[in-house]
Amino acid sequence: MKLNICCIGAGYVGGPTMAMIAHKVPSAKVTVVDINAERIAAWKSDKLPVFEPGLQEIVEGCRDKNLFFSTDVDAGIQEAEVIFVSVNTPTKTYGMGAGKAADLRYVELCARRIAEVANGTKIVVEKSTLPVRTAASIQRILHQNPKGHQFQVLSNPEFLAEGTAIQDLENPDRVLIGGNEDEGGRAAVETLASLYAEWVPREKIITTNLWSSELSKLTANAFLAQRISSINSISALCEATGANVDEVAHAIGKDSRIGPKFLKSSVGFGGSCFQKDILNLVYLCQHFGLPEVAEYWEQVVRMNDLQKRRFSERIVKTLFNTVSGKRLAIFGYAFKKDTNDIRESAAIYICRDLLEEKAQLAIYDPQVEPAAIYESLGLTSEEERSRIEICPSPYDAAKKAHAIAILTEWDIFKTLDYEKILSSMARPAALFDGRNILSLTELRKIGFEAHGIGKA
Ligand code: UDX
Ligand code: UDX
Repeated sequence: MKLNICCIGAGYVGGPTMAMIAHKVPSAKVTVVDINAERIAAWKSDKLPVFEPGLQEIVEGCRDKNLFFSTDVDAGIQEAEVIFVSVNTPTKTYGMGAGKAADLRYVELCARRIAEVANGTKIVVEKSTLPVRTAASIQRILHQNPKGHQFQVLSNPEFLAEGTAIQDLENPDRVLIGGNEDEGGRAAVETLASLYAEWVPREKIITTNLWSSELSKLTANAFLAQRISSINSISALCEATGANVDEVAHAIGKDSRIGPKFLKSSVGFGGSCFQKDILNLVYLCQHFGLPEVAEYWEQVVRMNDLQKRRFSERIVKTLFNTVSGKRLAIFGYAFKKDTNDIRESAAIYICRDLLEEKAQLAIYDPQVEPAAIYESLGLTSEEERSRIEICPSPYDAAKKAHAIAILTEWDIFKTLDYEKILSSMARPAALFDGRNILSLTELRKIGFEAHGIGKA
């Protein structure tokens, strides 16, 4: 399929998604543009700005053939027939809706830019997760372009999860495309559907009206996060009663109506989407005069906050109510395994709590850059930074530590030599498995005071 495609925003979503399109549709020309020159340079280099298993190979296979990275946003817009908008939509930190609503200024800036420089008819695709009815605002901006060009706005939310982006893009559960319910809208939907149909079976391509598509994305994330908060709420009860949350999750997951996925109790969900999207949903409900619906969903985020807090408190309590001056090893900082992304990672909150208690942290993560860790903890000066040590291996981190906290479920943490680790630690030595990846019985056998989530 011959199609000129541009994507504005070379982030965790835009980069991998466009790489997959270029990989699957060699006849399409795909250009990813971004205002961040450093990011674009990284996409052109050997060390991509996003770590995803399998991504490097795909990018290297298409780069400079039909996949291009550039900071020239205007040229990208002008050359393309289809423009994906995949810029970030963080939670608003100011003004109306602060702390909940999505900050749409980057999306609006993109729409204005497209309206200003476009040289012909274009299809503009919302890839970023957006509040329902954003397409209406984008349409308004686009239609006021000085040259009277026609635009079609589509919603095509991305459901990929980080760490499995390539697999998810290659074989998605579904592709969702929302468009206007008129002739122009239907034609635009068909153009995009045909692009995906180059590798996704037609029956997996769902088409809806614009608002259903926008709202489905928020709803999918809210439901997924709700499952985690639900099992985490039960984990608190398990700890109090002697039930084991893994056993409960297994037992209920066998019910085909419930299903086994997304029932892993943890120190709390993180990532750039869940909290942001739920708060966005909450704001929308309030905005549309549905306060009870808003409260219902807000509770999912509250439960997640509680889960993180309970974990820090358990560490402090177990270590004789004080961690002041004690070295604590942190295993994992990313919000989940197989990614270098730390946005909203539970580790940030746990580490902040522990630093407030004046602990000395020794952090190990196989992918996260030290600079990102310092920044997330607000440690700017040399002196502040000395409160944490970023270690080259989990063994180094655990040396002389009073406790280990596993905060990311990286596979390597499952196969470490815990006897060797224990022998290098202060005594008594505790281990807090915030991801339930290790056997507490085994750890206790070798002499750890071992704690998990939702386990007595
Ligand atoms: C983002 C949103 O967080 C998410 O809601 C949405 O579903 C998809 O887009 P992500 O790709 O993870 O997800 O964001 P990020 O990694 O921050 O990438 C966004 C990129 O857009 C950045 O590289 C930024 O420089 C770029 N950008 C932002 C522009 O090119 N132009 C702008 O005006 C603003
Ligand atoms: C999520 C959605 O899954 C994806 O469809 C959407 O496009 C973006 O948001 P992502 O944030 O990349 O993807 O990761 P996900 O695998 O959903 O995990 C989110 C968080 O929940 C992680 O911190 C993870 O560790 C946690 N989690 C997940 C649990 O604590 N328990 C589980 O059972 C599953």
